[in-house]
Amino acid sequence: MRQKRSYEDISTGECLKTLGSLVGEFRLPSFLTPLCMIAEVIMEMMIPLLMATIIDDGVNAGNMNVILRTGGMMLVLALFGLAAGIGGGVFGAKASAGLAMNLRSKMFRSIQDYSFKNIDRFSTSGLITRLTTDVTNIQNAYQILLRMAMRAPMSLLIAMTMAMVISFRLSLIYLIAVIFLAVFLFAIIRKVSVYFRQVFEKYDDLNSSVQENVSAIRVVKAYVREEYEKDKFDKAVGNLYRLFVKAESLMVTNMPVMQATVYTCILLISWFGANAILQDELTTGELMSLLAYCMSILMSLMMLSMIFVMLTMSLASAQRVVEVIKEKSDITDPEDPVMQIKDGSVEFCGVDFGYNDTAEEYVLKDIDLSVRSGEVIGIIGGTGSGKSSLVSLIPRLYDVSEGSVKVGGVDVRQYSLKTLRDQVSMVLQKNNLFSGTVIENLRWGNEDAGIEECRWACALSGADEFVEKMQGGYEAHIDQGGANLSGGQRQRLCIARALIKKPKIIIFDDSTSAVDTATDAKIRKALNENLPDMTVFIIAQRINSVMNADRIIVMDDGVISDIGTHEELLASSEIYRDVYESQTNGNGDFDGIAS
Ligand SMILES: Nc1ncnc2c1ncn2[C@@H]1O[C@H](COP(=O)(O)OP(=O)(O)O)[C@@H](O)[C@H]1O
Ligand SMILES: [Mg+2]
Repeated sequence: MRQKRSYEDISTGECLKTLGSLVGEFRLPSFLTPLCMIAEVIMEMMIPLLMATIIDDGVNAGNMNVILRTGGMMLVLALFGLAAGIGGGVFGAKASAGLAMNLRSKMFRSIQDYSFKNIDRFSTSGLITRLTTDVTNIQNAYQILLRMAMRAPMSLLIAMTMAMVISFRLSLIYLIAVIFLAVFLFAIIRKVSVYFRQVFEKYDDLNSSVQENVSAIRVVKAYVREEYEKDKFDKAVGNLYRLFVKAESLMVTNMPVMQATVYTCILLISWFGANAILQDELTTGELMSLLAYCMSILMSLMMLSMIFVMLTMSLASAQRVVEVIKEKSDITDPEDPVMQIKDGSVEFCGVDFGYNDTAEEYVLKDIDLSVRSGEVIGIIGGTGSGKSSLVSLIPRLYDVSEGSVKVGGVDVRQYSLKTLRDQVSMVLQKNNLFSGTVIENLRWGNEDAGIEECRWACALSGADEFVEKMQGGYEAHIDQGGANLSGGQRQRLCIARALIKKPKIIIFDDSTSAVDTATDAKIRKALNENLPDMTVFIIAQRINSVMNADRIIVMDDGVISDIGTHEELLASSEIYRDVYESQTNGNGDFDGIAS
């Protein structure tokens, strides 16, 4: 079972530190954005003051000169403000998009180093959500943070100060309103952020359900499970809907409360302000400015509350992203790696193996096996008997839980991974080709392979016939996942790709299941004649595919139940004999008999 990881593994501080370090070369725009925003606020805040001057010294005093001069200043300030605003926008976009880029490439690099075990832990769909949605959340939050986190408190502060300078007594009304609203807003936000956290967890479930369903849509249709899947999906979306409605209903209470406060403030200021004007303590212009600052103050409060919501929302994303970055591959090169592999001998000494440390029973139990260099080993056994697990230990796709696996007399954990995997080629059960040309795909095996080597490998694997018929031959295009090839053609190309490395050990994990029996035999014969020193492991369903091997291993429920040549096993192994007879008589398959 996959271990579900919780966000709480990584502390908020550690999370922010990691994100901060990834701002990297975008530190300058990250620094300039708030500066621009502050400049914009200052310009904006000057305008009500100038307004007061125009009204009091210009209009009321009938002085055209003051009106023109102050008007001109207002224009210049407004232009400066505009420039600062644009600058803030551009730098902010640069900084946040840059952070997103750095995050994605760091995550991608980290994922490339993952062992199979690491990938098992996160699941593919989980990794994709983290690389896309979660990073976008962080990008948006960072942009808002840079642009607003300075601007909002700044404008609150300046507007408050200006109001106090104009009339200390009247500005007390604002102070009370601000305190009241702040308390109210933060109470709401605390509640809302709890809902948003839940929303993200539900998103995860939804994503994995969609991914699973869409990638397996053929199976769903074949089993007529559409209705069931629809119900399941409706439930997941319904949950999300209810959480959102809850969160948003709380959020909208903001608005009326905010407006009521604004209007109360305006009423009170107008009332007391008018009285003050009558008593000559305040001018009309000053009253106008006070009212303008009222709006600024309340707007900045609104913004601050939004920032907090954004931040709580994106913190969950940040934790998910940092998890991917911090995840350490559990299979790495040793301190002082061995760079040479002597020969293709393989030895299993008392090997136990399980996919996770918590499972009760090992998948492989007490395996002892010694294979000479150049030997051909067939492996046969029911589905889930541990065949793939056994061979995946040789190129160190997984590490053993107990005991050791040796290649060329040296523990696989002592080699550099590159050396080991260059010399141990594995043709996986579920193979992948990549979009590109035939030759590009073949060169995954060896970057420097020339066309002659590619031809040679394709001739051995029987891929040459169809490649030469394809339009463009070795330059012909292969679609993503090899979709424009048949299963058998894909397998033959994958075998060629593995052969190009000229490895000391090659492992076929059920890799010839999709080619016909005659081709299968031809490939094995070609390998035998051309690469006689190579150690070969063949996992197969058909006894035909392994009967000529030097030795055949019969796997059963994680242990080696029998081992020997075809003749020996016919005499000694009951399972083997049964399968052989059923396969020669008809089309019996291993699972039918073995279970
Ligand atoms: N990535 C994995 N994570 C957890 N369990 C696994 C994984 N791969 C295989 N297993 C389990 O290990 C057992 C052996 O699987 P495997 O070696 O693939 O069998 P075979 O290749 O003989 O069909 C099975 O019970 C299977 O469920
Ligand atoms: Mg298998």
